[in-house]
Amino acid sequence: MADLVARFRDVFDDSGPVRVVRAPGRVNLIGEHTDYNGGFVMPMALDRAVRIALVPNDEPVVALWSVQFDERAEFRLPSGRGTPAVPGGEAEPADAPHWLRYPMKVAEVLAEADVALRGFRAVVDGDVPVGSGLSSSAAYEVASALALLVAVRPAVPAGPAAALAEAHGLSAGRLAKLCQEAEHRVGVRCGIMDQFISLHGRAGHALVLDCRDLSFDAVPLPAREAKVVVIDSGVKRRLSSGAYNERRGQCEEGAEHLREFDPAIRELRDVSLALFEAHADRLPEVVRRRCRHVITENARVLESAEAMKAGDLTRFGDLVNASHDSLRDDYEVSGPELDLLVEIARGVEGVFGSRLTGAGFGGCTVTLARPEAVEPLRAAVLARYEKETGLAPRIWVSEAAAGAAVEQ
Ligand code: GLA
Repeated sequence: MADLVARFRDVFDDSGPVRVVRAPGRVNLIGEHTDYNGGFVMPMALDRAVRIALVPNDEPVVALWSVQFDERAEFRLPSGRGTPAVPGGEAEPADAPHWLRYPMKVAEVLAEADVALRGFRAVVDGDVPVGSGLSSSAAYEVASALALLVAVRPAVPAGPAAALAEAHGLSAGRLAKLCQEAEHRVGVRCGIMDQFISLHGRAGHALVLDCRDLSFDAVPLPAREAKVVVIDSGVKRRLSSGAYNERRGQCEEGAEHLREFDPAIRELRDVSLALFEAHADRLPEVVRRRCRHVITENARVLESAEAMKAGDLTRFGDLVNASHDSLRDDYEVSGPELDLLVEIARGVEGVFGSRLTGAGFGGCTVTLARPEAVEPLRAAVLARYEKETGLAPRIWVSEAAAGAAVEQ
């Protein structure tokens, strides 16, 4: 982190007091494509994050240097409700680089929520792999929001994001929703999971989150009995917003059909397995399979939370495996590379379960394994994966980290 501050001074030739904010990526243990159906998820914050080192400005301009993209760009803050943030400043780029759109949209959404804004100069960097399904974009949105809030209150003490949000009259849950709205404006109609866990993560814990009312339960992870292994398939997530938004539309279509049989159904979250099974034949075939995934996945999250609390990792692993199979067959968001990683992992003794994590269409798998199974797992993946796919996998063990904060 000292590096980030040094980089700031270097880029902006500024010796002012630098503040640093941090927002982590996440890995989801179970509960995929349930969040935008009002359902349940079980993510943990990663020990990988986006960091922003900033000094407030007197001009209403946010000037950013992205270390990852090795590029400088800036935008003008919206001047009030309903005014969009626009690329601005000396260079007046016709099109903002894609990475600038995230902080721009966050600023726009905050302005519309009547949050006071102030410009800043900053360097942004991160070690959440981009496009790997570990929520680098949510981490970037949350870090951007914190940077904007800190710029207005540069004397705020270091500490968790919730305290900073409260100083601005916002709850951390509300801030998560505003960041989610920013992502929608970038083009993906995502659920609340990623922004929420980035803000609320707890070290050593996963959160069982009810995405309808945002209530949650922090479940300790048994670090001595199981490790969380993340494996990047090297397939850049083809999360075309198209395929993701299409799945979401199919779920909405399913809920609408099923509402005919129970008017209390608002979202798939409200559909019991019994009601679904009784009327499944009335749904178009693809919609039926999408719904079956979501409805069974919600049940799996609740059961896996109980299994984790009871220390039943074998049961937890079985549910993780069932989640992958359902994402592969019914939701159709896996792919040959993710399926191969899962198959290799499941063949290693001491692995409880393995599945794709995040939206799918490439990205990472998450595997729960006994500590002594981690090295054999790594060896098994290295022995087969690259040979069969031509892609180099990246493998690491993750600890559940704390959520976003003002670090310095
Ligand atoms: C992406 C979205 C989340 C969630 C997952 C799938 O990460 O941002 O809201 O829908 O996909 O579970």
